[in-house]
Formats: sequence, C-alpha cells, structure tokens
Amino acid sequence: LDESGENAASQPLDSIDGGADAPTTHQALLAWVKEVAELTQPDRVYWVDGSEDENRILTDELVDAGTLVRLNPETFPNSFAAFSDPKDVARVEEQTFICSEKREDAGFTNNWMDPAEMRTKLNGLFAGSMRGRTMYIVPFVMGHLEAEDPKFGVEITDSAYVVASMRIMARIGTDVLRKMEELDAFFVPALHSVGYPLAEGAEDVAWPCSDEKWIVHFPEDRSIWSYGSGYGGNALLGKKCYALRIASIMARDEGWLAEHMLILKLTSPEQKDYYVSAAFPSACGKTNLALLDPTIEGWKVETLGDDITWMRFGKEGELRAVNPEAGLFGVAPGTGWSTNPNAMRAIAKGNSIFTNVALTDDGGVWWEGMTDEAPAHLTDWLGQDWTPESGRPAAHPNSRFCTPIDQIDMLADEYHSPNGVPVSAILFGGRRKTTVPLVTEARDWASGIFMGSTLSSETTAAAAGQVGVVRRDPMAMLPFMGYDAGDYLRHWIELSGKANQETLPKIFLVNWFRRTADGGFAWPGFGDNARVLKWVIERLEGKAGAVETPIGFVPTGDSIDLTGLDMTPEDVEQAVRVDPQEWATELDGIDEWYARFGSTLPQELQDRLAELKERFAA
Ligand code: GTP
Ligand code: MN
Ligand code: MN
Repeated sequence: LDESGENAASQPLDSIDGGADAPTTHQALLAWVKEVAELTQPDRVYWVDGSEDENRILTDELVDAGTLVRLNPETFPNSFAAFSDPKDVARVEEQTFICSEKREDAGFTNNWMDPAEMRTKLNGLFAGSMRGRTMYIVPFVMGHLEAEDPKFGVEITDSAYVVASMRIMARIGTDVLRKMEELDAFFVPALHSVGYPLAEGAEDVAWPCSDEKWIVHFPEDRSIWSYGSGYGGNALLGKKCYALRIASIMARDEGWLAEHMLILKLTSPEQKDYYVSAAFPSACGKTNLALLDPTIEGWKVETLGDDITWMRFGKEGELRAVNPEAGLFGVAPGTGWSTNPNAMRAIAKGNSIFTNVALTDDGGVWWEGMTDEAPAHLTDWLGQDWTPESGRPAAHPNSRFCTPIDQIDMLADEYHSPNGVPVSAILFGGRRKTTVPLVTEARDWASGIFMGSTLSSETTAAAAGQVGVVRRDPMAMLPFMGYDAGDYLRHWIELSGKANQETLPKIFLVNWFRRTADGGFAWPGFGDNARVLKWVIERLEGKAGAVETPIGFVPTGDSIDLTGLDMTPEDVEQAVRVDPQEWATELDGIDEWYARFGSTLPQELQDRLAELKERFAA
C-alpha cells in the first residue's frame, strides 16, 4: 500500500476481469466489482485486506482530509472523532425500502417500491457517483468465519470512514476473502456511496453525503444498495441492513431467527450459568444491559452481544444464540462512569471511532452523562464553543462510540464459539412512562410472542423524526424486519415447533422507564437491573414469588432483592402495578395495531388478545 492508497492487489479498472494477477479467484465477486466500477466510475479501486498497516494509512488519510480528528494518544490511543454533516446523524427510516418482487411480501411496516423501478432510479444515482474517489472493496463475514454456514458479504464503498468503522464492527479482509474463494461462497453484495462525486480538481468536504438518501434492500437476490449517507446504520451495511433486514429473510427461509437483541451470561452465587437475550428498540438500553455491572453480591454478568443476535434451535431442540458482530456501535450520551463503567473501560483502551460527540480542550471526547459534571469548556459536535451555560447539548443525542468488542473486560469466552450459547430467557422491553410494569413473566411461549408482537416504546433520537411518541415495535424489529410483519410473527410461532419444550426459553416483558406520580423513574435501572435479572432466574428455578395479573406474572413486593437500595417493597408494587384504566387505553392501542396487519396476523395472537381482554373484563 503506498501513499495514494494503491496496494499490490489493486488493479487498473480495465483489467478487473480475471486473469493471472486478479486479486481474487471468486468469479462472481470479480464480475460484480467490474460492474460496479463501470457504473460508479471511481478514480481508484482498492481491495481492503484488513491489516493494521492498512488501517494506519487509511486513518492518516482521513485525518489529513479532515474527516477524522486524532484524539490525545495518552488518553484515547489510536482513537478518532468524526463529525457528520448535521443532516446525516441517524438512520433514515422514511428512505429505507424493502423492494420485494411482490408488494405484500414487504408488509405494511416497510416502504416498498417496484424493484425494477427502484433499480432504474438507483442506477441513475450511482452512475458516476464515485468520480474523483477511491472505491474500496471490503470482504466481510457476519458471525464466525468457522461457522457451519458462514454468512459472507462484500461492501463496496467510496468512504474510508466506512472502511475504518466496518473493520471494528465485523470480521473483514483477506482471511474472509480466502474463505469465500475456498467455498466459492455466496455473498451479499452491499453497495454504498456517499453520493458526492468530485469533479476534476474539486475540493472535498470533511463529511461528504447527499441530500437524497436511499437505503434499499432487494430480498430476492439478497442485495443492498445504500446511497447518500455516511451514518452508521445507513452505511455500515453489515449491521442493520445485512445482519437484521437481509438476515431476517435468510432466517425465514432457512429456519432461524435474526433479532435486534443483546445476549448476556449471568452466573448465580451457586455458580450456575444462564444465558439471557433481550430485545429493546434503539436507544432503550441494550448496550447498557449487556455491559451491566451488578449491584448485588454474588451475581456476575458477562457480555456476548449488545445489538444483534442470531438464534437457531440446536440438535437437542435448545435455542442457541450467537452475536454476528465484532464491535460495539453504542449510543454515547448516557454512557458514563457511573451508569456503564464497563463500556467506559472498553472505550478507554482506544482503537475507537466516535461520531458527533464533543471534544475536550485536551484532545479527549465528552458527551452528556459521561461524567456527573460537564467540563467548563468544550467544542461541541457542530464545532462551536460550548460551556455548561450554553443551554444546548454538547454531543448529538444519537452520537456513537464504535469500539472493538474484545476490548470489553467482561466479554464471555463463549463469544468466540461458533456454536453459540443456549438461551434460557428472552426479555422484550421498551421505553414507557406508564402502563407497562417493571417486569412481567409471560404465561407461556405464545403469550410471550404476543408480548413481543405488541411491544411499544416512546421514540428516541436513534431514528430521524419526532421523539417521545408511543409506537408499536414488534420484537424491537419494526425498522429491521425484511419481510411482512405478520409472516415474521408466524415464523416465531412456527419455529418453536422444532423446540424441546423442556428448554424453551421463558419470555418476560420489562420496562426500566416507568415514572412515578412525581415524574421520577420508578426504578433506578442500570446496574440495579441485575435485581430484575435475579428475579427472572429465580422464576426459571421456580423460587421467586409472583402475583398473577391479566397480563402475566409480576413480582411480589418482597421478591425483588432490594439490599442496599433506598426502596421499599411498596415501591416495587408501584413499579409492577397493572392499572386497569391504563390497560383499557393500551388494549385500544393494541386493537389499532393489530388491525393494521391484515390477513397475515397469526390466529394464535388474535386468540391471545381475546383472552387478555376477557381477563381484564372478568
Ligand atoms: P441501539 O444501540 O440504538 O440499538 O440502542 P440500545 O438499546 O443499545 O440503547 P442503550 O443501551 O445505548 O441506551 C440508550 C439510552 O437508554 C441511554 O440514554 C441510557 O442512559 C438509557 N438507559 C439505558 N438503560 C437504562 C436504565 O436501566 N434506566 C434508565 N432510566 N435509562 C437507561
Ligand atoms: Mn440497535
Ligand atoms: Mn446499543
């Protein structure tokens, strides 16, 4: 690799059609690279090998270009800050499309356009879109390279920021490419352009992007086209686009599950291990729970994953989970030394890219909630002087840290196992000020799926749009289901037919965000969520007390361990209260929600709703 970003494997465009010194023997990949290069007209083509040297050169170039700011190596070694265009700060759900051949296959939760029409539109936008830029080819695998059926992808992008971030978030480079060649494997072609071609001699900007953004998935050929944005969820195509939307389609066809879930390992004082997965919508606490520091004696938590979980029923009919990612792409605000010290320690090891956080005067980063007291002076994410009196956030509410997962001290060894871990409990949760108790155990699997299907949350800054509105978000997958929502729920129900009923996980609904009459949180949350996990485990073991309510089982006031907390059993009773008035409104909301599904909503779920109404009426 030399200064210009060329390496031995890079080829003049007109020779990328095979031949003795072609960079890969994978013919389908070569053909696709050639097609994309002809369409997008980059100045250079570069095959990413994933090495340290390469990363050093790329990040140096990004610093020179002004896209990255190098942080103080004493406090944040090998770490960088990036500042996006202020209009390119979150996933763009309005511009995210599932272009299945048939409209009904995308379902009512997805935007749809006729695939032929969309292809014409995209071909127009991508024509010449990489002019003046380097086209990077990033072979990657989601999940383990040694998995039985490794899930490959290749991202072609004109953003070096995307390459540097993909390197943290996924396994990339030459090893992956060699394995793809060996297996002559299928790969998901994932094409990304910032949509900002450079005319001859034109100056680049620090964060190139386009006002027009399209995040498009073609389910039938499993391809992804992303145009106009450099932001994580829109541009790091292995993550939401592949490991959730495309993978959910693969999972439907192949009999597994691709979910927006964390996975953690919990060890009890009796040294028994349990694996718990949990689905919460974006910015509702997955990364925090996955890295939890328990506040109760004798309980230990280790991390397996913080955002995406792939699950399948194993040989014994047990549900096994793996994390397909290699990094954390976490919400920065609210991540601090008091709320999430484990994330802070992982970040402090360096090798991280921060996007839209504030800069401290000594070359570090800061965001709301990192420390109790804000520094006296900062440069905010927009590049302006900031003081605590400024009256505006210093970091964007959806600012992110991007950090290698193996920097987590509490990473469970099982993270490295391609066979995954057996799940014994699944939590569904959302951000609700009222109505939803701190924790509720579902009566049975189907009732648990009902809970997941009606999951709701107040919207956050993780997606563009209004914040704080209650929306239904089935299994926290609303923005990520790659196909019809009713079919997706049916897939969950049918899959359990393959399960060993003895080891079928128990399902729980949680809500860390309920408020009390005076407006405060009804539950302290964060490390204290270990107390709820303890109750969950004790329910699995048939030990903890519970009260039956119309929606399921909630803890008795004294069954939650409050040792060391300034809370009483009566406070717990308030936090788990099932208020008939609030639930009357909730049932109306669920009716409205279910009415939107049309004919694909599974009858089992309609039956569960009818039963729930009967129990409230009784
Ligand atoms: P994505 O990465 O976007 O999918 O979101 P996430 O689910 O990982 O969310 P994350 O853990 O980053 O939490 C985001 C916000 O929720 C932060 O502002 C946290 O402060 C807040 N949060 C997380 N856990 C708790 C909790 O137990 N109680 C309260 N009150 N807030 C919490
Ligand atoms: Mn997420
Ligand atoms: Mn997260």
